[in-house]
Amino acid sequence: MQEERAPEVGKGRPRGVATQTGPLPLADIESGNEARFLTGVSEFDRILGGGVVNGSVILIGGDPGIGKTTLLLQILPRLADSSGRVLYVSGEESPRQIKMRCERLGIDSDALLIFPETNLEEILKTTQSVAPAALVVDSIQTTFTGLLTSAPGSISQVQEVAAQLMFYAKRSGTPVFLIGHVTKDGAIAGPRALEHIVDTVLYFEGDKGHAYRILRAVKNRFGSTNEIGVFEMTDAGLKEVTNPSAWFLSERPQKATGSVVVASLEGTRPILIELQALVSPTSFAMPRRMANGVDGNRIALLVAVMEKRMGLNLAGQDIYVNVVGGLSIDEPALDLGIVAAVTSSLRNRPIAPTTVVFGEVGLGGEVRAVGQAEARLREAAKLGFRRCLLPERNLVKMPPIESLELIGVAEVGQALDAVLT
Ligand code: TYD
Ligand code: MG
Repeated sequence: MQEERAPEVGKGRPRGVATQTGPLPLADIESGNEARFLTGVSEFDRILGGGVVNGSVILIGGDPGIGKTTLLLQILPRLADSSGRVLYVSGEESPRQIKMRCERLGIDSDALLIFPETNLEEILKTTQSVAPAALVVDSIQTTFTGLLTSAPGSISQVQEVAAQLMFYAKRSGTPVFLIGHVTKDGAIAGPRALEHIVDTVLYFEGDKGHAYRILRAVKNRFGSTNEIGVFEMTDAGLKEVTNPSAWFLSERPQKATGSVVVASLEGTRPILIELQALVSPTSFAMPRRMANGVDGNRIALLVAVMEKRMGLNLAGQDIYVNVVGGLSIDEPALDLGIVAAVTSSLRNRPIAPTTVVFGEVGLGGEVRAVGQAEARLREAAKLGFRRCLLPERNLVKMPPIESLELIGVAEVGQALDAVLT
């Protein structure tokens, strides 16, 4: 529970983009292409749908320490060079700290103005004198408005600050980047409370123990939401990973049992990942089923399908399934990969290293078609795979993919013998 003071009657401020004009016929409204400018970090531009739109508000959310500040500091100097001065409001780090970090990142720009401030009214006043080409507020949780008495970071403060910055963006045509921490205990006062206010919501995700970071668009009024960008955190900041599949497969063991490559889809982008399963006789009364990077319930379901439809005896076996690289994949196309990996480990027969699989498995043991099959196959062919096990239904009207042998399956048990060496 959080105590909030009721707003005084009549002091409500207008919300949204209301203007004086009244209703207009759609045909009379000017559209025109939104003016966009490029940040120079191509992964970032792509996720936004081709650059930053003037007057848009972009929220970048993520766990503390994931690299949000680093990402923006790397993008801004290029933005500043191409479009004028950029105002970076920091409520979390002192200018000295930011300077030291910029030195490490090799950033040196006269056009980047660092402003340590947490009061929204001061920030808006400064934007009038500076007239920046872009504004960054790091972070929304530390910024507060004097209009409300509640503490910075509370849900009403965060929403009010975001709404005011939205007005500023729309009025002045300046793009505004908001940084928001995802709070540990869920969504309270975090970026979730702002998703409806801003134009674009990007989440920066990753695993603390791994170097990769994924920037994902979950809402975008100016482009597709299904875009992702992959970055690697190095000691010199974030680097774009232009070929994520090769990167995720780089440490793959050859000829190990229980390892299979799955052609998965992140957003609209095909990514090949390695899936591993380990099946070993249990020493517990209840065999263990552990999943890392995939849904545990899905494993339980597929184990039941394998027992019933393929006649495998898994009741006395512990089963561990892991997506390599710390990725989390939530996609039914992984099913056939899980079945292949578990079978491979159980039978102790490796899967040929140049084979890739994908397909959804139903409770009847049927293999169901998945979306974007051709994109997945092209990615596999690009990385030198020779064979693909895929749903038979996906073969309908499929053009031949260079150098890739396609094996259509309708039933789970049917073709696993073909891929187990
Ligand atoms: P930061 O951008 O401060 O995270 P956020 O703003 O999301 O809280 O990132 C901090 C982490 O990134 C920190 O744990 C160290 C790491 N890091 C590197 O590994 N290399 C670098 O060059 C930089 C600047 C940070
Ligand atoms: Mg930060």
